[in-house]
Amino acid sequence: MFVRGTTEAINLVAKSWGSKHIGEGDEIVISHLEHHANIVPWQMLCAETGAKLRVAPVDDDGQVLLNEYERLLNSRTKLVSFTQVSNALGTVTPARQMIEMAHRAGARVLLDGAQSVSHLRADVQYLDCDFFVFSGHKVFGPTGIGALYGKPEVLADMPAWQGGGNMIADVTFEKTRYHEAPAKFEAGTGNIADAVGLGAAIDYVQKLGIDNINRYEHELLVYAMRELKTIPRSASDRHRAGQDQRAVIRAGGLPDHRSGRGIEPRRHRRAHRPPLRPAHPAPLRSRSDCAPVTGVLQHARRDRPLGGVVRQLAR
Ligand SMILES: Cc1ncc(COP(=O)(O)O)c(C=O)c1O
Repeated sequence: MFVRGTTEAINLVAKSWGSKHIGEGDEIVISHLEHHANIVPWQMLCAETGAKLRVAPVDDDGQVLLNEYERLLNSRTKLVSFTQVSNALGTVTPARQMIEMAHRAGARVLLDGAQSVSHLRADVQYLDCDFFVFSGHKVFGPTGIGALYGKPEVLADMPAWQGGGNMIADVTFEKTRYHEAPAKFEAGTGNIADAVGLGAAIDYVQKLGIDNINRYEHELLVYAMRELKTIPRSASDRHRAGQDQRAVIRAGGLPDHRSGRGIEPRRHRRAHRPPLRPAHPAPLRSRSDCAPVTGVLQHARRDRPLGGVVRQLAR
């Protein structure tokens, strides 16, 4: 189905599949790595239905603790929804394994592909997810367009979530018959122009080759890790070396070089709060608080959820 993006796709599943299949006492499992788009719709659904939201924790390097995750899964778990790649930490989750574990518990699984589609293969048959969602603008396409994949048998058991033109097979004042998916979930005139743009973006990625992209990005990571480790750690070290180095470790948002020298682990103000919220907050109050390398890295050590890359640099 075409949707506005990942957020709308998750809301569609929550409103449609969730309203039919989630009830009081049921449980929805997400992970500590989730974007707000994969938290808030489930909180809303839980508030409406009396279901419970459970959160699988991650370790100091931002990896999902699989034994803890497994302990959360039980016969009350109706849905597991998690990201394939974390927008805040870059963690690549063991999606296939987590999906398999959820299925063993009898749950359906939504995989958030917003951050994975431009970096990894999104083979929904191999992954065996029940839903897969992504946004066009994350894969070099336009904003305002994205997609929801669902297994046919799962989609067949979901009520329409919006009514209007295109989704109907027949309308009388007494009764309306709907199309099957995907049209059933695409009420109104579609976003044709952006769908064409998304098609062009996907052609571009396929021409480059997703495996080539993946390999090149890995080389960049290895290179960046090696070079960042050569940056002197304290202001006085830097002064002695006569260097004015600057490196930004992006945790999201647009690049912003105003904050001066050194390494700046960025904390996007809105999009990444749960994964980056420290267990014992010593918050960065403003971007300029981030400047000295040593200070930031010491902070990063205390600030548990900042995760693997910063942690490795801090060693
Ligand atoms: C992992 C993840 N999920 C969901 C979203 C929400 O995507 P959108 O705002 O395009 O709906 C984002 C956006 O950054 C994301 O990174």
